[in-house]
Amino acid sequence: MRKDVRILLVGEPKVGKTSLIMSLVSEEFPDVVPYRAEEITIPADVTPERVPTHIVDYSEAEQTDEQLFQEISKANVICIVYAVNNKKSIEKVSSSAARISIFSLVPLILVGNKSDLVEHSSMETILPIMNQYSEIETCVECSAKNLKNISELFYYAQKAVLHPTGPLYCPEKKD
Ligand code: GTP
Ligand code: MG
Repeated sequence: MRKDVRILLVGEPKVGKTSLIMSLVSEEFPDVVPYRAEEITIPADVTPERVPTHIVDYSEAEQTDEQLFQEISKANVICIVYAVNNKKSIEKVSSSAARISIFSLVPLILVGNKSDLVEHSSMETILPIMNQYSEIETCVECSAKNLKNISELFYYAQKAVLHPTGPLYCPEKKD
């Protein structure tokens, strides 16, 4: 049995990484957030899988690439967050997945935040990226603002670590 799970959120500035973490913790959408949330630990007894879970934020505004690489190497699962209404942030998902998979073989979860702002789903754009990287465990659309799929997102992340489904090693992928 694992002793804990460490979840890292990465993604373009302003996609809502910090808001997602704060929404999970306070169960309401924060109007104002710092660039980077303090690392939080959710005690085992309130997580679905009964394992203490650390949630780690990243902000380009406050952290260096070096610090990002350190966090990537410590994480057990990485959520690549984009905003469903921000095309550029969706386009960056693929290169983030590529860069992370050079350093790390941890499962990745694609998180499309701000679903409250659009009518259509981003899945059509995201599915080809999912198929390209075996590390990507799943994708989820959510909204920090109306609290949609927030606890699900962190549950999927926990589950990806505790019950991995993908191959642990995928030789043809590392070019
Ligand atoms: P950096 O720390 O700069 O990398 O940004 P971030 O990814 O942490 O984004 P942050 O949480 O600071 O949110 C950026 C802006 O998007 C803020 O104005 C939030 O209020 C807003 N926002 C975050 N999540 C949502 C959401 O689900 N829906 C809507 N409508 N706005 C959101
Ligand atoms: Mg932030």
